[in-house]
Amino acid sequence: VRRELSRGLNFNRPSPLEVHCAEQFLAMIGRADMVKFTKDGSTADTAAVKLARAYTGRKRVALCADHPFFSYDDWFIGTTGVPGGTLPEDVSFTSTFRYNDLASLQAVFDRHPGEIACVMLEAERNVPPAPGFLHRVQALARAHGALLVLDEMITGFRWDRAGAAQVHDLTPDLSTWGKALANGFALSALAGRRDVMELGGIRDARERVFTLSTTHGAESVGLVAAQATMNVYAQEPVIEHLYRQGARLRAGLQQAAVAAGVADRFTISGRDCALFYGTLDHEGQPSQPMRTLLLQEILRRGILAPSFMVSYSHSDADIDYTIDAVAAALPTYRRALEAGSTAGLLVGPPVKPVYRRFN
Ligand SMILES: Cc1ncc(COP(=O)(O)O)c(C=O)c1O
Repeated sequence: VRRELSRGLNFNRPSPLEVHCAEQFLAMIGRADMVKFTKDGSTADTAAVKLARAYTGRKRVALCADHPFFSYDDWFIGTTGVPGGTLPEDVSFTSTFRYNDLASLQAVFDRHPGEIACVMLEAERNVPPAPGFLHRVQALARAHGALLVLDEMITGFRWDRAGAAQVHDLTPDLSTWGKALANGFALSALAGRRDVMELGGIRDARERVFTLSTTHGAESVGLVAAQATMNVYAQEPVIEHLYRQGARLRAGLQQAAVAAGVADRFTISGRDCALFYGTLDHEGQPSQPMRTLLLQEILRRGILAPSFMVSYSHSDADIDYTIDAVAAALPTYRRALEAGSTAGLLVGPPVKPVYRRFN
């Protein structure tokens, strides 16, 4: 990145770096013919929807309602209960289905025959896929002429170098990538089947799609950071490390929860490489005050953890330190459970859900 900075950041024509990065990326993920780089996950997911609509000549999008974030654009954010600034007519073309509930997706197809442009989901978050679920989603989309869009923002370069599609042997028509792709530098990607992607290019005779506009989309620092990242993935056991440290962390956290007598109220879920935690109250309901209490108590011990995603830089000592911090926090958590309230234990107001209509 430092070397590239001295050669220039942003040019008025594509740089060869963009082609080299694209080739390296496509070779690493397999399952896609073309890629277009951009800067954020939202823009990549919105571009996928746009291409799917143009390709199929259909308007409606079917989204997995259990996956919390795809895009800040209206077609998604309008479904979340934060309607400010969005157009209801845009959202009216979005339908939702539930994860691990094929019937709910079938119902969307039944309600809107011939109208679904694409089905969009992540492969998994904290609940594992029921046997066959993901393949049935793929088959259902295909059977109805809809494209399958797999959001690999979190799973990509984490579950596997080639993402969750590799783990589950899925062949999405389009997939979107970001986050780990450039190891924190700004880069995201829309990848997919040539005949769909070409719609957004300059070689195709079909009606054009203005897929993405990005002043900084192919800025060289993001691209070279992605190349450097992919080089590390190719040469070093990054994925293995994530699974190993995640398994160690999961085991330690679960042990700490058992030792504190809160194992049914402080729960660990997700794959080892991408752990989430649940904070339930004394009645077993998800609780923002309990979450805040846990965050507060681990923060006191130097850990900030909205989830428990490990990284390649986390050593055994880091994992053990995290486990110790949680173990030290859990007696206070237990006190709140026993009292049936966090009253007197929180130093500030509880955290609020992201999707709320008013502050
Ligand atoms: C799964 C997933 N998709 C899409 C996005 C949107 O990405 P961005 O915030 O870069 O627009 C996110 C962001 O957190 C995400 O986690």
